[in-house]
Amino acid sequence: MVHKYDAVIVGAGGAGLMAALNLSPHGRVAVISKLYPTRSHTGTAQGGIGAALGNMEEDHWEWHMFDTVKGSDYLADQDAVEILCREAIETVYELEHWGLPFSRTAEGRIAQRPFGGHTKEYGKGPVRRSCYAADRTGHMILQTLYQQCIKNQVHFFDEYHLLDVLMADGRCAGAVALCLATGEIHTFHAKAVLDATGGCGRMFRVTSNAHALTGDGMAVALRAGVPLEDMEFFQFHPTGIYKMGILLSEAARGEGAVLRNRTGERFMERYAPTLLDLAPRDMVSRAMYREIREGRGIDGKNYLHLDLTHLGADVLDKKLPDVTEFVRTYLGIEPKKERVPVQPTAHYAMGGIPTDANGRVIVDEANTPVAGYYAAGEAACVSVHGANRLGTNSLVDILVYGRRGARHAASFIKENDWAPLPERADDRAREQVSRLMPANGKERVGAIRDALQDEMMEKAAVFRDAQTLRAMRETLQELRDRYARIKIEDRGTKYNTELLEAIELGNLLDLSEVLVESALGRQESRGAHWREDFPQRDDINWLKHTLAYKTANGIEFRFKPVTITRFQPMERKY
Ligand code: FUM
Repeated sequence: MVHKYDAVIVGAGGAGLMAALNLSPHGRVAVISKLYPTRSHTGTAQGGIGAALGNMEEDHWEWHMFDTVKGSDYLADQDAVEILCREAIETVYELEHWGLPFSRTAEGRIAQRPFGGHTKEYGKGPVRRSCYAADRTGHMILQTLYQQCIKNQVHFFDEYHLLDVLMADGRCAGAVALCLATGEIHTFHAKAVLDATGGCGRMFRVTSNAHALTGDGMAVALRAGVPLEDMEFFQFHPTGIYKMGILLSEAARGEGAVLRNRTGERFMERYAPTLLDLAPRDMVSRAMYREIREGRGIDGKNYLHLDLTHLGADVLDKKLPDVTEFVRTYLGIEPKKERVPVQPTAHYAMGGIPTDANGRVIVDEANTPVAGYYAAGEAACVSVHGANRLGTNSLVDILVYGRRGARHAASFIKENDWAPLPERADDRAREQVSRLMPANGKERVGAIRDALQDEMMEKAAVFRDAQTLRAMRETLQELRDRYARIKIEDRGTKYNTELLEAIELGNLLDLSEVLVESALGRQESRGAHWREDFPQRDDINWLKHTLAYKTANGIEFRFKPVTITRFQPMERKY
């Protein structure tokens, strides 16, 4: 089945919906999403969206920019960060005007709270910059944008899984997706495609990411010849529920919660004397691992405590209702009285499909764009987060760059006709499905995925070195061999989740390989990429972006310079 639209957005999280909404006055727009849109992962972003509104105290977008660049360990492109921090402000007011129910100050302004790595006066102390709706900010953004999209006649294809992106004469011509309800393959012929498919945290055992976060758009782009940028940088959020990984928002620490080790010590005093528990996530997660390694985990185990007991019922009930409820539901603990077991949880891919500041997918170090192909949000790398993202900046990124991508795409679809659909456009997608559907080997998808997640957690997470990464390379080869021998028992076409999981696992294996090879290549420690065998940042050799290409000979690399405008790299102290 072939559909024809001016623009097709893949993914219905914040980036996808913001893009669809901004494109909707300019042509026929479709959103294809593997989930029902309001179940997209943006809904789990809890603590807020960063913008220097200055509602609670003095603040400036330049301070926000400095924090973002420093937080990124100087790998972020500063032209892109400047856009992010400047446009964050109008973006938050735009959300307010669309009806987003922000929490309010006594004077009726949008309320703001402190968040990790956000400071006043270029690092002097925490600043209240995160604009929030209790601890349900992402949920509210998603609902607000979805309502606006419906009002503006955006056409939704819910529960369609992306299989391929179509290229013709160096241009993007559309996308191919599997309808989960029927098993049919649909081709979407479009002048412009914007990928907003989100992240790939499901490659790790302990993760805050939903089951759907399998990096589909990144993997499809990689197979289509697009490189992936900076995939070695994967963020672990300090406060996942022990063993489960479910996120307990940094908003808790923003409201005053603290981390404690087995002796009850507030150990962040030793690691980050100024920002303490609100240091950037890479530092807090590493500090937690160190406490655990040195025997100061709770009961000698691999977790620590998040202490909310002193915050009081009013703060917990009004400002942190979801955190409070998650703790009760998943742990059976009353956070008003007891400390909560937490461990770092795989949260966010800083890397992704490389784009320029207009959301155009680029294919090399000279920033050559692919006409008609855009990406935004966690699937993309613009790069505003560099080696480590600050909390609240993902919500800014999805909205600012979702909108910028849409604005560029709007002129593109006005000025260009459809590229001819390649002959037998859906061949590659059909071949993928017809190879997997009759698979009758002895291996189970679930077992391979479990092994992948356990091994990635062990060998390629917060701390890595050449030995663990080389071991992971070998493990990935074994897992690939097993993947070639999987069995799919469900031969049906309707909601064949076994087939879906097999496709997703293929994506995770491809992306894990890119992460491991990129991490092996980068012989330094920067942001979330910590090499125990190269524990220093090395600006002379490594102040550059990795571009990883999938070739017949494995992963090959090129490198792209970092754009530095206002802030020269400095030592990172908090
Ligand atoms: O902790 C949080 O609320 C997560 C926010 C983020 O990742 O930006």
